[in-house]
Amino acid sequence: MSEREQRIAVLGAGYVGLVTGACFAELGHAVVVRDILPDRIAALRRGEVPIYEPGLEALLGRNAERLTFTTDVGEAIEGADVVYVAVGTPPTYSGDADLSAVWTVIDELPDVERHIVVAMKSTVPVGTGEKVRHRLDARGLAHVGYASNPEFTAEGTAVKDFMEPDRIVIGAFEEADGDLIARLHDGIEAPIVRSDVASAEMIKLAANAALMTRISFINEIANVCEATGADVVKVAEGIGHDRRIGKSFLQAGVGFGGSCFPKDSLALKQLAANSGYHFQVLNAVIEVNELQKRRVIGKLTQLLDTLRDRRIALLGLAFKPGTDDTRESPAFVLAGRLLAEGAQVIAWDPVASSDGLSGVVQVDSVAEALRDADAVVLVTAWPELADVDWAALAPTMRTAVVVDGRNMLDPETMRAAGYRYDAIGRAATNGLD
Ligand SMILES: NC(=O)c1ccc[n+]([C@@H]2O[C@H](COP(=O)([O-])OP(=O)(O)OC[C@H]3O[C@@H](n4cnc5c(N)ncnc54)[C@H](O)[C@@H]3O)[C@@H](O)[C@H]2O)c1
Repeated sequence: MSEREQRIAVLGAGYVGLVTGACFAELGHAVVVRDILPDRIAALRRGEVPIYEPGLEALLGRNAERLTFTTDVGEAIEGADVVYVAVGTPPTYSGDADLSAVWTVIDELPDVERHIVVAMKSTVPVGTGEKVRHRLDARGLAHVGYASNPEFTAEGTAVKDFMEPDRIVIGAFEEADGDLIARLHDGIEAPIVRSDVASAEMIKLAANAALMTRISFINEIANVCEATGADVVKVAEGIGHDRRIGKSFLQAGVGFGGSCFPKDSLALKQLAANSGYHFQVLNAVIEVNELQKRRVIGKLTQLLDTLRDRRIALLGLAFKPGTDDTRESPAFVLAGRLLAEGAQVIAWDPVASSDGLSGVVQVDSVAEALRDADAVVLVTAWPELADVDWAALAPTMRTAVVVDGRNMLDPETMRAAGYRYDAIGRAATNGLD
């Protein structure tokens, strides 16, 4: 290894840990990835990738000689210069972030005598770094450095996002520790934002909150479009050209899900509340999103009169295209509500599974999902849905009814193909009475 290359331990082989490990290996560092799941580590050692993330398999394969996988924390830390924490931080019942896995890995750190830096990739509440610092100091590990280096990658584009980020955020207690984290990223072209630890933690939470706010904002605009006869797709195009606003995250739909936005919004809301502040905008963002996921139920009821014994095809189970992650997926909420209303639910997804959704029948093709269905709902914006021969499938349905939950299809074409078509916020085009 050259001087520039470091030894990195990554704790957690999930979506973030694996991408982080593979990308640092690609940058030339020697990486050991540790997870507590023996099956996951065994699979990785065999060259199998336990999650679906475009480009990850190729990256792991290409850098196999610089990547090691282990369940043994001692083996992971031995010789490491930097220890990345990439364990999950799911919500607790109260909505606070559950930091138990973070505390476990901090407490599991061996009593190293040399200087290493612990770098936090997991999304954690503001103040966590300060608490970790005290915990390490109390163990006599004051010589172990700490930095917050939050992750902004999105599932489905995580490898590209890591290698070509909009920015790299580093908050450290000691300048030199921040410098080391910055050097690990040599080879990546991006602005580096250096800050104190608390601000770095807040940057991550605030960035997610800003994106979620845009989604709930455009969803509310969509709902008002429906009530007033406008088309949100045109509205988004029109406002997106404004450079002060921009185009991203202005696609109206059935709401956001995933392993990050819902839990991070709750965690930030709780963080504010625990500090005595009522975060009004964020509360509204969360509430709008919950209602948005259920709006399709109202549309289907209007189109089909009743949901009882109706056969509904859900296209997409993943919370967004490009991933097999179904955590907090709007599809799961929808399926649950439909089943509760007495409907039969048939689901299709190119990579995600309906495991954990009892009562849902998963099929292998869109055609199978639509056969004899009373209605079809586009829930996840999988690009292949735009290429489906919708005209050929309309006669195979019991009633050709579409609710386009992602505004992917052209209303006129769908109507010409024989469908009753409804979407989100497209009253100007929906032709429904
Ligand atoms: N998923 C994303 O796109 C994304 C993006 C940005 C930030 N984040 C944040 O990154 C963190 C990780 O997210 P994720 O989606 O990768 O989670 P994940 O659930 O996919 O992976 C976490 C992994 O950590 C492992 N683990 C638990 N305890 C461990 C321990 N003691 N030692 C080693 N491994 C342990 C788990 O077995 C699991 O494989 C979270 O805080 C999340 O909010 C996620």
